[in-house]
Amino acid sequence: MAEWFKARAWKARVPKQYRGFESPSLRHGRDDRRFRLPVTIRKPLMGTPLTSIQIRAAGAADAATIAQFNTLLAQETEARLLEPGQLRRGVEAVLADPARGTYWVAEIGSQIVGQLLITSEWSDWRNGFFWWIQSVYVPQRWRGQGVFQSLYSLVRRLASERAEVCGLRLYVEAGNARAKQTYERIGLARTRYEVYEVDFRRLT
Ligand SMILES: CC(C)(COP(=O)(O)OP(=O)(O)OC[C@H]1O[C@@H](n2cnc3c(N)ncnc32)[C@H](O)[C@@H]1OP(=O)(O)O)[C@@H](O)C(=O)NCCC(=O)NCCS
Repeated sequence: MAEWFKARAWKARVPKQYRGFESPSLRHGRDDRRFRLPVTIRKPLMGTPLTSIQIRAAGAADAATIAQFNTLLAQETEARLLEPGQLRRGVEAVLADPARGTYWVAEIGSQIVGQLLITSEWSDWRNGFFWWIQSVYVPQRWRGQGVFQSLYSLVRRLASERAEVCGLRLYVEAGNARAKQTYERIGLARTRYEVYEVDFRRLT
C-alpha cells in the first residue's frame, strides 16, 4: 500500500511534508491531473471512512456542482442571488475552454468537497503570468478540515513548477473575515492594490 494511504491519526491534518503531494503517475511524468493527499478528517462524521482527499481538474460533468457552489458562495459572502442560466453558461464556458481557466475540485470518496478556479493574467513587469485564484468554496460540512489548504497547496506547487508563472493572486470581499484569516494563515500577503471596475453586467 502506498505510503500516503497510511495516515492514521484522527486528529492529523494534511502533514506538511505531504502538502501538494502528487500521485505516482505524475511523478513519473504522466500529468493525469489527479492528486491524492493523505488527509485524515479532523472531526470524522458518522459514516465517513478514513480516507484521502483527491484533487483533480474539473470536467464537463462537474458543471452542476460548480454552479451550485458558486450560487452558495455568492449568497454567503455577498448576499447575491446569481442568475442561474448566466452562471451555468459561465461555468460551462470555462470547462469547455482551458484558455479561460481551470477549475480544480477536491473529492473525498466520490463527493466534491471544495473547489477553486484558476485564471491567468499577464504581468509585463515580470514577463510572466499571475495565476488568479477565484470561486473558492468549501461546503460548511467540510470546513476546517484542510480542504482549501489541499487545493491551495497543489495549485501553488503546480504554479511554482512552471517557469512562465510569476505568482499567485486573489481578491476577497472586504467583509469576508474568515476567508482573509484563512489566506493569511496559509501565507498569502495582502497587497498594496485596491480593485476598481466598470461592470457592464452588473450583478443584482
Ligand atoms: C474560506 C474557506 C474556503 C476555507 O476553507 P477550509 O477548507 O475550511 O480551510 P482549511 O481548513 O483548509 O484552513 C486553512 C487554514 O485557514 C485557517 N482557517 C480556516 N477557517 C478559519 C477561520 N474561520 N478563522 C481563522 N482561520 C481559519 C485554518 O486553521 C487553516 O490554518 P492551519 O492549517 O494553520 O490550521 C471556507 O471557509 C469557505 O468556503 N468559505 C465560504 C466561501 C468563501 O468565503 N470563499 C472565499 C471567497 S474569496
